[in-house]
Amino acid sequence: MLPNIVLIGFMGSGKSSVGRHVSEMTGHRFIDTDLLVTQRAGMGISRIFRELGEEEFRRMETAVLEELIGVCGVVLATGGGLVLREENRDLLKRIGIVLWLDADADVIFERVSRTQKRPLLATENPRATFDELREKRLPIYQSAAMARIDSTGLTHQQAARKVLEAASRQLHQPEQ
Ligand code: S3P
Repeated sequence: MLPNIVLIGFMGSGKSSVGRHVSEMTGHRFIDTDLLVTQRAGMGISRIFRELGEEEFRRMETAVLEELIGVCGVVLATGGGLVLREENRDLLKRIGIVLWLDADADVIFERVSRTQKRPLLATENPRATFDELREKRLPIYQSAAMARIDSTGLTHQQAARKVLEAASRQLHQPEQ
């Protein structure tokens, strides 16, 4: 059976939309850490950041991952900052094949600008904040993932197919 697939990447990189397609194609159950955290907290992400703070949000992300250890047959989409904690990166590796979904910065920024859902970008100059965060995080995604999938110019379905190809390549790679 295909192992769990874990999607990491910057906010707006399409983890949830592509993850849903991967779930349909594989029969794996789709799980989203943002959704689990908000369900547990009983409030939305912006409110968690405002009332409890980012540190508490990160702690809740870790708690959700710990609960997923041992679960089989899932596609997991993760919040863009979840990989910041080393502890979380280790947990992700134990959960499944970790793949980094990426796209051109302008494409991603255009996507995230369409909603007000990202508290970290609610600054005076969202583009500068976006560029700064992305710059800092790229090496972390790179080191946490087994492979990078560039979804620039692809439909969600096409990106999902690339995710599956990358997962299968990881499976068939001889042990190093
Ligand atoms: C965050 C990304 C968001 C959400 C929260 C923090 C981040 O998830 O977890 O707003 O630190 O990059 P998405 O990547 O699904 O937007």
